[in-house]
Amino acid sequence: MQPRATYPDHLRELVDEYLTTLWFAPGSGDVPMSLAGTEGLVEAMRYSLLAGGKRMRPVLAMATLESLGRDPEELLPTAAAIELVHTYSLVHDDLPAMDDDDLRRGIATCHVVYGEDVAILAGDAMYAEGLRLVCEAQAGTPAQRLAIVLELARATGVAGMVGGQYLDLRGHGHHSSESLDQVHALKTGRLIAASVHCALAYAPPPEAVAATYRQFAQELGLLFQIVDDILDVAGSEESLGKPVGADERMGKATYVSIHGLDRSRQLAEACHRRTLDLLEQLPGPLDDLSALVHLTHERQH
Ligand code: IPE
Ligand code: IPE
Ligand code: MG
Ligand code: MG
Ligand code: MG
Repeated sequence: MQPRATYPDHLRELVDEYLTTLWFAPGSGDVPMSLAGTEGLVEAMRYSLLAGGKRMRPVLAMATLESLGRDPEELLPTAAAIELVHTYSLVHDDLPAMDDDDLRRGIATCHVVYGEDVAILAGDAMYAEGLRLVCEAQAGTPAQRLAIVLELARATGVAGMVGGQYLDLRGHGHHSSESLDQVHALKTGRLIAASVHCALAYAPPPEAVAATYRQFAQELGLLFQIVDDILDVAGSEESLGKPVGADERMGKATYVSIHGLDRSRQLAEACHRRTLDLLEQLPGPLDDLSALVHLTHERQH
């Protein structure tokens, strides 16, 4: 299959537009009276959420639903929730107690502008608001919504993003290439996989097909973090919108620190190949999913 080179901009635009309509987004009216005094918190949430970003995870969720023969817009509230959860993870990841970074999405990090206390709370609130959004705004049966909330909770808990962040901070990836893969699968791969899993929960295909989607999602998540590690060494701050060399400064175990740059590129290539092989086994239409795989491999930002 020839990958389409352009990003699914129509899906990204839907996500961006939807995010700005959330109650804490600009243009959605005043903060209700009962919330008076929380404007500063809402401002910090808006600041990080609406700063841009590729919107890869929500677009992946919608492109997965599209490949299952459904209208991707049906999943918009869940897609937005995933982006809220992801943005929370970025705000906390950048804190001085974690990666201590001062640039994200091309602007100063949340804690630099609003203070660490507010950044912690803004992350906490984005997580809760994401789950609220699924419960209140996602179409489907209560059982479908519950399955989506459960998936997001699993993907962010101890066996997911937060567990992975803990292992990352404790240097677990230094032990072996297998332990590094475990860190990557949890801290980054799991939420990317959840983007696919939420679409599967909403429009379940036969189990054999779902299993192929899950394998595809796992490989795509690993590919995403291998490329992220490579870009920390070989990318530019200008196009990434975040600092380069941050992993080395913090002594992080990464693909580059464990395998070296050339070998990391080979391993990324092999992972890309595995992802494409799985993609070819999925139902269609696959244009948007294919474009996302291409972006994950080729991205410079
Ligand atoms: C960055 O994610 C954090 C990682 C998991 C590597 P993205 O590269 O998707 O960041 P944004 O959302 O585009 O800013
Ligand atoms: C972060 O991985 C993963 C999460 C935010 C959960 P990194 O620490 O490598 O992400 P960047 O490079 O700061 O975006
Ligand atoms: Mg980190
Ligand atoms: Mg970081
Ligand atoms: Mg990184």
